[in-house]
Parts: sequence; structure tokens; C-alpha cells
Amino acid sequence: MTNPSSIDPSVLVAKVDLETKVRLLTGASAFTLAPEESIGLGEVNLSDGPTGVRGLKFSGGRQVALFPNATLLASAWDEETTAEVGRMLAEEAMAQDIHVVLGPTINLHRSTLGGRLFEAYSEDPLLTGKLAAAYVRGLQSLAVGACLKHLVANESETARNTMNSVVDAKTLRELYLLPFEIATAESDPWSMMAAYNDVNGVAATEQDHVINDVVKGEWGYTGLIMSDWFATKTAAPAAAGGLDLVMPGPEGPWGATLVAAVRNGDLDESVVDDHLRRLLVLADRVGALGELRSLPTDLPAPDSPVRREQLTRLAAAGMTVLTNDDVLPLTRGTSVALIGRHALETIDMGGGSAQVNPPYQVSVAEGLTALLDSVEVVDGVEVRTRPVPARPGFVLDPSTGNPGVHITLLAADGSVLEERHDAPSTVMVGFDDDFSEPVATVRFRARVAADGPVEVGVIGVGAWELTVGETSRSFELRSSGGFAEEMLAPPVETGTVEMGPDDIIDGEAMLRPPARTDVLDGVSTVEATANPLAGVGLFGLVARPAPQPVESVIAAAAAAAAQADVAVVVVGLTEEQETESVDKSTLALPGAQDALVSAVAAAARRTVVVVNAATPVLMPWLDEVDAVLWAGLPGQEGGHAVAAALLGDIEPAGRLVTTFPAADGAAPAWSVTPVDGDLEYTEGTFIGYRGHWAGNAPAPAFWLGHGLGYSTWSYSDAAVSLDGPSPQVSVTVTNTGPRDSREVVQVYLEPSSSDEPVRLVGWTAVSVPAGASASVQVRTDDRLWRSWDTDSGAWSRIADGGRLLVARGLGDVRASLSLD
Ligand code: BGC
Repeated sequence: MTNPSSIDPSVLVAKVDLETKVRLLTGASAFTLAPEESIGLGEVNLSDGPTGVRGLKFSGGRQVALFPNATLLASAWDEETTAEVGRMLAEEAMAQDIHVVLGPTINLHRSTLGGRLFEAYSEDPLLTGKLAAAYVRGLQSLAVGACLKHLVANESETARNTMNSVVDAKTLRELYLLPFEIATAESDPWSMMAAYNDVNGVAATEQDHVINDVVKGEWGYTGLIMSDWFATKTAAPAAAGGLDLVMPGPEGPWGATLVAAVRNGDLDESVVDDHLRRLLVLADRVGALGELRSLPTDLPAPDSPVRREQLTRLAAAGMTVLTNDDVLPLTRGTSVALIGRHALETIDMGGGSAQVNPPYQVSVAEGLTALLDSVEVVDGVEVRTRPVPARPGFVLDPSTGNPGVHITLLAADGSVLEERHDAPSTVMVGFDDDFSEPVATVRFRARVAADGPVEVGVIGVGAWELTVGETSRSFELRSSGGFAEEMLAPPVETGTVEMGPDDIIDGEAMLRPPARTDVLDGVSTVEATANPLAGVGLFGLVARPAPQPVESVIAAAAAAAAQADVAVVVVGLTEEQETESVDKSTLALPGAQDALVSAVAAAARRTVVVVNAATPVLMPWLDEVDAVLWAGLPGQEGGHAVAAALLGDIEPAGRLVTTFPAADGAAPAWSVTPVDGDLEYTEGTFIGYRGHWAGNAPAPAFWLGHGLGYSTWSYSDAAVSLDGPSPQVSVTVTNTGPRDSREVVQVYLEPSSSDEPVRLVGWTAVSVPAGASASVQVRTDDRLWRSWDTDSGAWSRIADGGRLLVARGLGDVRASLSLD
């Protein structure tokens, strides 16, 4: 813990020369900032969040807790939830000497095609801003810095490094800047990250208007603005535009160019001084200036009982009951046919920089069989369109026999730079290495716990030699893209081979040397070597059961469903769809999952569908099934959390944070593909539920705020009081169901003018025993009663009149209060 020192950063700035100042304003490595002894500045370590603190390594780092994803956490509609997450992340950060966690992500869910929405809270700016503020307060209460990202209008991934978001001033202020404004006002975040994209023709890293005028000027922001990784394009324009810090380093566009800009008068040195002053303020806040922080030693391990309890509870509480025809919660004693690839390979996190290396991941199959006596688990149809790295457990490190792979990194002369045992089946090379020499060869070794045909292959740009048993192949994989593609979407090559039966493999793993002849005595070994052509990128090993014919998979699932009291089908997306760097092209579930659900529903007595995805999917089978539980990306305790929610041990009391369109394209904002570089936010402030309510898109399948929990509610005595700084609604809610339950009372403002969209203006959550009533007050938020006047460049209050709607999502309005 730390106490900010009494040192005046401005005094320290004056003590270093220009070259030193500029050097400190670019990272020292992929995730560190340089120390400077002469002014008592220690090293500052940054790590990605927001679903776990990955550490200084992009891949292959230490094991850390994997949290439920942002939409699942947000679905609790509870500031204390994100505050608790912030405190937990601070502990995870301190355990590995991290000073700043790169989160929360507070971009909005503009189009549900956005690949990275799983990292961000909601389509609603108030919900996003309030939850983010609580997360920041939690994190920073333990003196670990937060970083709001990505400033601003960064809602999609297609052409993300070059695209220009075209957003009018009203929309920028009322929607996309609002979460940053709320979080700044309510939590004083110590840093923010400027995005990759341009905003109205100016790079987000050079946004004099956004950064200098609005954030640092109008809002009086005292923190530091860093660039997204490799996002800074210029020296003087970025520095003058308010960017304080270039990440990563040590190379970058500032350095000598920025020094020269100051020397030749293009940039005033006072601008550089202010950047460094802000960096020192950050260092001071996180205990890296003057007397360095001392860290607690009794922090919970990522697999400790306390983390298990927290992660299960947080995940299950955010899960959302979308429909329920009296089948949930399941009663103990029910026989279940548990069906689907996601039941066996539950997807617990999205792809990209938010990924972490967790100590374990509990599948739904493991979670449910731990709680119910009669569960028959049946694999489902293929859910991936592109092979992905092997899951630990399906692959074993031949030298240890443990889940994971054996990775060797070699230099050009063949000397070993690093060996990793029981490792995840990917490795990042050339990005955050600290080897004496560059990696020239990457070698994977794994045994496969399989019985039958296995799809085996490799990922990454390189000249590969792939050996499976006695068979070897040489080939090259190349990429047409640059660094980002080699990191986030590298090329893959696979083939199908017959592997030995798993009983033999399981038994003999540990002591057997990984030799090619192993296949002859029944043990299969995969060995692959790559000579990286580009010297940088992500490399991986693929091994998974070869896909089976869809018809036979569906027939087996339907047969199992017919035998059970209830069929539970787990469907979902994967990190192919929910990932950084790529957007979706459809909301449809990948593969033949829809056909699987329909076939099971036709055969089963009762059918429950669990949706393992962070963002909306299409559900053409909705009327055929008895219940749908939306489970998000539930983190390392995912399977336990799903099981607890299905059985009602923990009420899945979530409410949606994004409106679910009923069909592809049936949403007020859809395309994420820039045209001639421009992505026009033509829907203005009418995104999500706001646009659906205005009739700009057909009625959605489910509205933001929808969620049934496990009880029923009646509302009475709704009234509005205009006393106080902003109108306040009071209402009595009665829990009319058989269980204690939690209700989220939401209040929306429908303005009198149709130019102004309906909007969430406040909510209050309350837990009420079965049969009891509670009087609930909802204070509406001032900032949602404002309208940005583009002509005058100022806020005004929206016109009088209109009404307040008290609702459980706009599909279930319980009271309408006139404001006339
Ligand atoms: C992402 C950021 C992340 C950074 C560092 C970028 O690609 O956009 O959110 O913090 O990488 O990993």
C-alpha cells in the first residue's frame, strides 16, 4: 500500500533534461515504464485487464484468476459488484507487482456485431459509466491505478487501426463520451487510453478537442492519457493533442523526433513538462515515486477458496433467465441429458488482450455432474470455423504427463532460450521477450488424450515441420497482414490423423520420452517446430477430436434427450466471434447448433438452453424450448456457476445490458464496416433500445433490462417527486413468487420531443423475501436530462414534458408517470 508522497511533481520535472523527459514518455518495454533514479521514479508496471490481471507477458505468463466477462458482471446492475471486482483485480495486480490495470473498457455496444463487446459493459452510457466508476473506486482504493479505455468512439474492430468514426457532437457527448465523463467525475481514474481509430478525421491519439478541451479542460481531469499499443502515429501533433505517454516502447514515434520538435520551436517544452508531470502524478499515486510501495504478502492465490467463492457468486448472479416455462430452477433428483460442445468445452473468456492464463477452468459438464446424480453428458456439433489452440487436458506435456504442452524456444544457434512445461498451447514471440537473443525456433510437444481421429495442426507464421507419430510434413504458413494479424489472427494449417486410444495414453504419459516411435506402442506424440519467418507473432499447436458428421451427433443428442427428465443444451459463441481485432458478420450461432437445439427440443420432455456467449445471439428455436439461461463468459468457475444458477443455489438475477435483436440487421445500428475508411454513426443517439423504442428497427427479441430471475413481481404506487436536484421516482414492489429474490427497478425517461431518444435515467436494485414488499426510490441522474446543443457548444436541459417509465426492460413497462 502507499501514501502519495509530498513531492511536487512539477519540481521533479524541472530537474531532468529534455532528452530524459521525452525518453520517459515512451514505455520502456511492452508493459513497463522506465524508472529514473535521479528523481526517485521507480519502474511502473502495467497489465491488461479487465477480466483478470494477465501480468507483464502477453502469453505464457503466470497463472492468474480468470473473472467473469464484463457483460456478465454488468448484468448484476450493481455498483458493489464492480467495486468488488476492482478490489479483487487490485489484489491480483499487487500479487505480481503491477501498478496499473488496463481497464475498464467502457466503449458502448453500438452494433451487436462488435467483436470486442464482451470486454465492455453495455449499450447504455449511464449503466456503463456508473459501473465503471465503481470498478475504478474499488481498484484505486488499494492504490492500483485504473485505465479507462478506449477514448473514444471505438465500438468495432474492422480496420481498427485505420478507420475513422464519424460522430456528430451531440452523439459524442450524450453517448460515447458520457461513460468517460461519469467515471471521471465519480472515481477520478488515474489513467485513460486513447484509441486506435480516428474520430472525425483526427487520430484519437491526437485529439486536441477530446483530450485537451473536453477531458483535461472541461472535466478537469488530473490523470494521464496513454496511447493504445502502437496507436501513436506522430510526435508533435500527438504531444500537442494531449497524449501524455506512448505505449509500448522503447521504440516509438516520439524520441528524437519530439526532442527536435521542441528544439526547433514546433512544440513548447511546457507541453512535454505537463506530460511528464502527469506521469509522475500517476507514479506517485501507485507508489512508484519517492518511497516505493510495499506490497501485502497475504494475497489470495488465483485458485484459493476465497477466489473460488467470489468468482462463482459473481458469475452466477449475473446470469440472466430470458424465458422460463416453469422448468427452472431444476430440482435435485432430476435426470438431465447435458448436451453441447460448450458443455464440455465451456468458453470462459473472449479473445485478444483480455485473455489470461487461469489455473483451471470448470466446464458445465463438470459443474453439473458435481451437483446432480443423474447427468448424461453428450458432445454437440462443431462450433468452430477455424481450428484453435489445443485445450489443456486434451493435450498432455509428454515430459510431465500433465495437461498442457511442452514448449521450447530456441535461438538461431540452436541454444535453448526457454523451456515451458504444462504450458498453454500458444506462445507469443518477439513482443515482450526479454531474451539475450531473438527466438529463432519454437517447438511444441504434446501427447494427445484421444481415441480415434484427431485434427492436428499448427498456428503461426513460419516454416513448419509437423510430425505426428511417424509421419512428418514440412510447409510454410504466411500472413498477408502485419504485426496485428500475426499476433491476433495468425494463419493455421491442420489435418486429420488417427491417434492411439486414450486409455494407453493416460496411463503412460509421464515417463515416456516423446519419440516418434511412440505411436507404434499405442502412445501418440505430436511434435512441431517453426522457424518464425517474421520473428514476431503468436504460435500455437492445434489438437482436437476430428469433427463427426452432424447428423450422427444430432441423432445421438436427441436419443439421450428422450431418455432424460430434462435436456440441457449448452450453445454459444467462441473466441472466434468474441475477440479483439475481428467483428462478427452475423448473430447466428456458429455451426449446426440451431438444428441441434430444435432436434433436442423435439425429442425431450423439457428443454433448457444455456447460452454461453457474452453478446446477443439469434434464437430461432425460442418457441420450441422451455427455458433459456444466458450465461455470458463465466470465467474459471464457469461450470460451477452455471450449475448453481440452474439449480437455483444462486439466483441468476441478471438483467440484460444489451438489447437482443430478433434478426440480423434488425437493429438501429448494424454495420461495422467502414466505407472508404469512414464508419458513420448515422443512427446518432438512437442506439440499442433507444432506437428500437423509436421504431427505427423492428421489436427486439429481448430488451436491455430484461431478466426474469426466479420470482415474479407486482408494482404499485408509482409516483414521481420533482423535489431535489433531479426527479425521483418511488414505487412499491412486491415479490409475488415462492422464492426470495432480487429485482432491478429501472426508470426510463421518454422525452416530449421525438428528436430525443428514450433513455435509462436511473435504477435501484432490491432484495425482497418471498411474499414481501419493498418501497424503492430511484433518483434519476441529472446528466441524462441534458441535451447537447451543437450550435452553442453547450448543454441545455431537455424540453419539459414527456414521461417516466418504470420498467423491467422496455418490453415490460409497469408504470408511466407523466411529466406534463
Ligand atoms: C488493446 C488494448 C490493450 C493493449 C495492450 C491493444 O491491442 O486494444 O485494450 O490494453 O493492446 O495489450
